[in-house]
Amino acid sequence: MTSQGGTERVNSLVIGDGYRQASLEIWDAMAPGWERWRGQLADALTPVRRWLIRELAATPGDTILELAAGAGDTGFEAATILGDGGRLISTDFSADMVEVARRRGREDGHENIEYRVMDAERIDFSADSIDGVLCQSGYMLMADPAVALAETRRVLRPGRRLALSVWGTPDRNPWASIGGMMLIQSGHMPPPEPGAPGVFAMASEELIGGLLGDAGFNSVRIEEVPVRFAFRGVDEYEQWVIDVAGPFGMVVRGLPEEEREVLRARLRDAFVPFAVGQGYELPGVALCAVAR
Ligand SMILES: C[S@@+](CC[C@H](N)C(=O)[O-])C[C@H]1O[C@@H](n2cnc3c(N)ncnc32)[C@H](O)[C@@H]1O
Repeated sequence: MTSQGGTERVNSLVIGDGYRQASLEIWDAMAPGWERWRGQLADALTPVRRWLIRELAATPGDTILELAAGAGDTGFEAATILGDGGRLISTDFSADMVEVARRRGREDGHENIEYRVMDAERIDFSADSIDGVLCQSGYMLMADPAVALAETRRVLRPGRRLALSVWGTPDRNPWASIGGMMLIQSGHMPPPEPGAPGVFAMASEELIGGLLGDAGFNSVRIEEVPVRFAFRGVDEYEQWVIDVAGPFGMVVRGLPEEEREVLRARLRDAFVPFAVGQGYELPGVALCAVAR
């Protein structure tokens, strides 16, 4: 273990290239699902996306870099502000995700977007060349977010902003923790190693502030932003987890039908408190940060 920003981090021998390769394979496998569920994901994440765009404060003519862009919707909203003289560079380390974003961006008629395959831990731009960076639900999944944040600071022009979001603690994010906890409690996946990347790996304002400070950002503001994920029922949630939920989705894909039926029955009970009308609304809280 190494110490960074007042927090313990699992050393890169443990969370290193093996993790990076496995994570890349998982997100490539999730790309078709992110295309299929794009509308639902964008709807649920609207409050986070709006917060990030507002705090990024981009202006026409700016060059904005989106990291870990997935299907690309957060950056697309920024692209509408940048105009013909500006440019969004939409990036992700998964080439399949970049293709999803490229298709969707074309379909939406954006003409000021460049699409690139890029690992956020190795940003392929020179220092002081970017007017703003966006990263929604990305840094906590990276093998070494400290490296990615230092890279982000390096390419940003002095005084320009990074707007990021990660997820708060599991108890405040049933949309992810209900399924994840069930897989762990049923022995289908191990509990996360302390400090290892994952959906809840940056679920503390202190940790986010420490990482941003260590990366060279000296003005940081963090706010909680609530969201809701709507599902018609447990079957739809199961399909959604399979299609979009990264490592959780891969585990469910590999389960035999009888194991899945056991999980469905437990999920039906766990969903009861979240019933709304004919369906369910699972709440969540993102931690959104703007840093300069
Ligand atoms: C949970 S998805 C979020 C996608 C999008 N930002 C959104 O909020 O809709 C996480 C994304 O991070 C990407 N990703 C994970 N590690 C990365 C890394 N080291 N560099 C760049 N992208 C990465 C994955 O390929 C995936 O598209």
